[in-house]
Amino acid sequence: MLPKIYTNVPGERSLAWGKRLGEVECRNTTYLAEDWPIFWERADGVNVWDVDGNRFLDMTSGFGVAGLGYGFTAEALRRQSDVLLHAMGDVHPARVKVELCEVLSKITYEKWEDKKGKCLFGNSGFEAVEAALKTAVLATGRAGILSFEGGYHGLGYGALLGQGIGWFREPFEGQIAKVTQRLKFPREEEGLDDFLEQLTKVDGSKIGAVLVEPIQGRGGIVVPPEGFLAALREWCNKVGAVLIFDEIYTGFWRTGKMFACEWDNKAREDSRGSVVVPDLICLGKALSGGFPISVCVGRAEVMDAWPESGGEALHTSTFLGNPMGCAMALEAIRRYQETETESLVREAAEKLESGLRKLESLGMVKEVRGRGLMMGVEMDCGERVLDLTKALLREGVIVLPDGPKGDVLALTPPLGISSEEIDFSMELLRNLIEF
Ligand SMILES: Cc1ncc(COP(=O)(O)O)c(C=O)c1O
Repeated sequence: MLPKIYTNVPGERSLAWGKRLGEVECRNTTYLAEDWPIFWERADGVNVWDVDGNRFLDMTSGFGVAGLGYGFTAEALRRQSDVLLHAMGDVHPARVKVELCEVLSKITYEKWEDKKGKCLFGNSGFEAVEAALKTAVLATGRAGILSFEGGYHGLGYGALLGQGIGWFREPFEGQIAKVTQRLKFPREEEGLDDFLEQLTKVDGSKIGAVLVEPIQGRGGIVVPPEGFLAALREWCNKVGAVLIFDEIYTGFWRTGKMFACEWDNKAREDSRGSVVVPDLICLGKALSGGFPISVCVGRAEVMDAWPESGGEALHTSTFLGNPMGCAMALEAIRRYQETETESLVREAAEKLESGLRKLESLGMVKEVRGRGLMMGVEMDCGERVLDLTKALLREGVIVLPDGPKGDVLALTPPLGISSEEIDFSMELLRNLIEF
């Protein structure tokens, strides 16, 4: 449904909630200003309603979580919450944890190479990344990490090792081990040559993990050149490092394939597609459609670097494999596997991209880029994107700035967004930019 505004945005109620929050929440969490934020009351499909009754179109899917739209896994949550809210994840687990592990194995390593995958669950996305980094240390005995400028892997201390947006790391640098080497993330139009040259200079004997997003999200929606992932795969094979794809953002159709690593390998155009198979893949966000659950899935022989448990797990957490998260993820994956999902995403993606391409001729638009329903509009400066973000909100459309300088307007709508909703937001965007 298209937006409908009843009061100013933010309305009086949102402003009042903002005032209350400012007194009791840690600074630097929720951004509070005279014209920001709105407080959410409920959401359904592509829409969000705020406490003032205004209806918005969410072009972010709530940080990429809402997958096929808000509420598409709510019934699974209701059913599960009637019977079991919590179990003892690594001691006496819920049955649904087993089912989810089996399904995750099927849609990754069993599909890609007829081998089992094994799972290690977390709550937030960064925990899946940390589980992957620990796995790499156990598998290789090497602490070194190769990651990328502009890469975003979450903000836990372990995940900060891979963080490629400097200002997230800087205040905490004193507590972060100096084990990471960062390379420039190549852009599609640059080709691979410079990157391959940089890669030859890296001392592979020190690197245990290569941590990379197949398409950078928070780094400003950056698509690498074709062959990039395949080159990393080859390099990891050569030096014996573990290749980790962080698909927390790109996973579950966001880029037009179930996983973004299924785009990249010309050498492997067989019946399974052109997938570059990582040793470990990190998933979160759209995995459940709204419950904090994440997972590191790995090729079984790599995951088996973890020793057999003698009763006390070396890595776990209180809520590991929470049954509500597992039930929602099972339902989400069932829906993602329906045959119509692919065409739904393809049609919406084509519509969104063609709408955005029409903006390229406008002076202050530097570039339109992305893949599938993960698109970015780079503008001439970050202030412009912030102004646009706020102006769009006032008209009923939720978007976010991205990129280290905040100069990219990111658009990652729910996969089921309609053509009418895309047209509406494109027209609005054009009018606001021209104005
Ligand atoms: C690629 C990627 N990895 C990891 C994370 C961290 O996930 P979370 O914020 O759930 O910890 C994010 C969050 O935006 C992400 O985009």
